[in-house]
Amino acid sequence: MVARISTVAFQGIEGVPVEVQVMVAPGKFVTQIVGLPDKAVAESRERVHAALHASGLALPAKRVTVNLAPADLPKEGSHFDLPIALGLMAALGAIPADALADYVVIGELNLDGTIAPVAGALPAAIGANALGKGLICPAESGPEAAWAGAGLDILAPRSLIALANHFRGTQVLSRPEPSIRANAANLPDLADIKGQESAKRALEVAAAGGHNLLMVGPPGSGKSMLAARLPSILPPLSAAELLEVSMIHSIAGQLAGGKLSDRRPFRTPHHSATMAALVGGGLRARPGEASLSHHGVLFLDEFPEFSPQSLDALRQPLETGECIIARANHRVSYPANIQLVAAMNPCRCGMAGEPGHSCARGPRCASDYQARISGPLMDRIDIRIDVPAVSAIDLIRPAPSEASADIARRVARAREIQRDRYASSGTAGGTNARCSTALIETFAAPDPSGLQLLRDAAEKMKFSARGYHRVLKVARTLADLDGKDSVGRIHLAEAISYRMAGERLTAVA
Ligand SMILES: Nc1ncnc2c1ncn2[C@@H]1O[C@H](COP(=O)(O)OP(=O)(O)O)[C@@H](O)[C@H]1O
Ligand SMILES: [Mg+2]
Repeated sequence: MVARISTVAFQGIEGVPVEVQVMVAPGKFVTQIVGLPDKAVAESRERVHAALHASGLALPAKRVTVNLAPADLPKEGSHFDLPIALGLMAALGAIPADALADYVVIGELNLDGTIAPVAGALPAAIGANALGKGLICPAESGPEAAWAGAGLDILAPRSLIALANHFRGTQVLSRPEPSIRANAANLPDLADIKGQESAKRALEVAAAGGHNLLMVGPPGSGKSMLAARLPSILPPLSAAELLEVSMIHSIAGQLAGGKLSDRRPFRTPHHSATMAALVGGGLRARPGEASLSHHGVLFLDEFPEFSPQSLDALRQPLETGECIIARANHRVSYPANIQLVAAMNPCRCGMAGEPGHSCARGPRCASDYQARISGPLMDRIDIRIDVPAVSAIDLIRPAPSEASADIARRVARAREIQRDRYASSGTAGGTNARCSTALIETFAAPDPSGLQLLRDAAEKMKFSARGYHRVLKVARTLADLDGKDSVGRIHLAEAISYRMAGERLTAVA
């Protein structure tokens, strides 16, 4: 007889239905797994045997064939252990096969018969819900799976024995509760930063519209400090965003204890990160830092120290909001609607353009260093600011500075205005930065004097078409922060100044 158990294979953040078919037939005592298993799936045979033995189930000396259907879909990961074991138990009559028909099963087995947590419980639960089935998953993954819906039937046993007892009715498993991670109350606060008023303003604008930001300045001027305070002014994730972000983190196995958080991701990969680490790929096509920052911030400190290939791989996700990983036999895509924040010194010695300093290597010091950032990548950065060294006066007797909570309130209001504006247009994340070019031309149509300014600036600075639209987007955000319906000359002037900082830098070099 053939026992059939439903499970999933992950493609991107989607769980594709897979059927595990187990047949026990007379013959030599062997177990074979077919259906494009990878190494982890092939090794599942040993774990399943040991776990069944530890649970007191003796395997008959027969031939066991396990087929993972559809046979041409690659199966990766260790979550096939539990469906294979349950299929075998059902084929041997240790649990009723019809009881399992209504469940999708994922889980890894330990040799002692306990069930170990696996990545991807949330997308598996959502997939099961869509199929109208329940989910059997490891106990640790239960709280995460419970987010998929209140009506979803979830069994989260600690061991094979606990699950068998549940089906026998001797020890009933209770449904796990969805849990949320308590947010640490004390995020670093912008009030800690002395001076740097214009940098703080730029940070507020970037947060309000979801714009990409580049900070350039000498070492020790507070660039890393400013970036680290961005999470304290960003609004929390909406319920739909929370689920999307958590799906990616679930696939990557990064949901600690299966708990979800409504805080926007803030990822800070080191500059030695490879291309696969940034945009995803490598073994099992895992999501990269760009996807893990979905609906949040990807902060690249010491921007030019990243390898140019890694940085240029970010160009496509920055434009489309999606990371696409091409494999030999299939294509995987992960959402990556990110806000890029970068910080850099103006040159290798760090002091180019500072009054009273001259680089030992002359102007080439700055031009060589900045050339590591390609033009097309630079073009995607809407706001570029100089962060000069803090003046002694500011350090010793700083003017009182605003707390993050006050700035966060203004940011939240501006985001609300954007959300209402884009609600019907399907703009991802509902921010000005993600608005389509056609829409921004109508929503940010400037008044006549603004138009004149924009025309002059575009001609003089030779904006690319992208640059032109990005200036409009930043201007729209500035108007939103002002609570204005239309974009005026003053908003455009500020937006253009944010684009000019980069050009000035090149002029210094
Ligand atoms: N504006 C500032 N206000 C207060 N402290 C600052 C400021 N700028 C720099 N510092 C101090 O200098 C240290 C280094 O700042 P950091 O942000 O790492 O500089 P950068 O990244 O620009 O090289 C900080 O830890 C902080 O102690
Ligand atoms: Mg730094």
